[in-house]
Amino acid sequence: MKQTNWTEKYRPRFFSDVKGQDVAVQKVHDFVKNFPKTLKKALVLYGPPGVGKTTLAHVAKNENNSEIFELNASDLRNKEKMNSVLKPAIEQKSLMKEKKIILVDEVDGISAVDRGGLLELMRLIESSAHPIIITANDIWDKKFSDLRRKTETVQLKEVDYRNIKEILIGILRNERKVIPNDVITNISIKARGDVRAAINDLQTASGLDDPSKVLIDERNKETDIFTALKLVFKGKPNNALLGLYDSVKKPIDEIMLWVEENIPAEYQGEELVKAYDALSKVDIFKRRIYRQQYWRFLVYENAFLSYGISSAKNPGAVKSGFTSYKRPTRILKMWLNNRRTEKKKSIAKKYARYVHIGERRALYEFATVKAFLTKPEIQKELKLTEDEIEYLNKENSPALHN
Ligand SMILES: Nc1ncnc2c1ncn2[C@@H]1O[C@H](COP(=O)(O)OP(=O)(O)O)[C@@H](O)[C@H]1O
Ligand SMILES: [Mg+2]
Repeated sequence: MKQTNWTEKYRPRFFSDVKGQDVAVQKVHDFVKNFPKTLKKALVLYGPPGVGKTTLAHVAKNENNSEIFELNASDLRNKEKMNSVLKPAIEQKSLMKEKKIILVDEVDGISAVDRGGLLELMRLIESSAHPIIITANDIWDKKFSDLRRKTETVQLKEVDYRNIKEILIGILRNERKVIPNDVITNISIKARGDVRAAINDLQTASGLDDPSKVLIDERNKETDIFTALKLVFKGKPNNALLGLYDSVKKPIDEIMLWVEENIPAEYQGEELVKAYDALSKVDIFKRRIYRQQYWRFLVYENAFLSYGISSAKNPGAVKSGFTSYKRPTRILKMWLNNRRTEKKKSIAKKYARYVHIGERRALYEFATVKAFLTKPEIQKELKLTEDEIEYLNKENSPALHN
């Protein structure tokens, strides 16, 4: 038995069903209602996938009891079709209904939409007897500059996870299915504003014995670090978090740096203290694990970093809003430090050979001979590389000491 696809089944029919897009809803409403007494003859809805762009055009059709004429980017490449199908559609009155809306869906969907197709579209926009709604992911490419000028543009943003959650709960109620609340929350967060993705996850989850599996093992897709951080920081602590980092394709040590870097962006006061506490436990465990080679204890490291950090929140608390997580700076610092140490070593080695002492002693004396090593003739004598010379010069410039 083929299941109906929930994203289609629950596609909004009226403006009031479209969640989290109040500005766009208003613009579409006004544009279609006021046409042709509008400033521009076409409205461009642009934004990431699954936020309601195509839906809004169809909703406008329902609300205005109109017809819709749909075409996509590939049609624009086909000159014949443009002239034989689109042109008449744009110029003629609607046959059955009072109104007709022209939808040019995903105008940027095919990379090779040529200038010819776009030019033709511009001409049709000028002469259109019907409101034209165009959707796109991105309209900032140079080739769309004409389009931007000739149309009204409206940006649709990622849908807030609380709105997504509301949509998901409505669907479950209608389907008479139950999924644990924290799983619904996490599906909503994981979608990163993409309602289509969330609904698809929900449908998958509803068919699983353990719905939380959809969060970590969904078609072996990897979880990106940003989603993982969001799940840990924003939602309530739950069991699904324990396996979360397994699906992130980064070594656990690097994940730790990401967590460390972003704790202050989410936690304050008591929570901050608790989070750092969990983090320091990770550190202690890690050192023991590495020293004693008890690798199976790595799960604890994982648990502190996921469940531990998540449960630093006040009991029952969740975090709302969008946080733009930062890349860890410590990786960079460690890397730079390593490079510096390397250079210092290689210089000391050359110096040691030159003055016939051991490498260790050369390193030990490094601070005292550094000034001597900045002399160009010495540098030449020691056959220092440019990198090494640069290192010495930097080390000796007071501004860079810390
Ligand atoms: N703002 C929204 N409110 C309610 N449902 C939405 C919203 N955005 C998307 N959806 C759901 O996601 C599906 C895909 O939305 P769609 O409008 O086709 O996305 P796109 O922005 O990629 O054109 C819809 O069928 C609907 O179920
Ligand atoms: Mg679409």
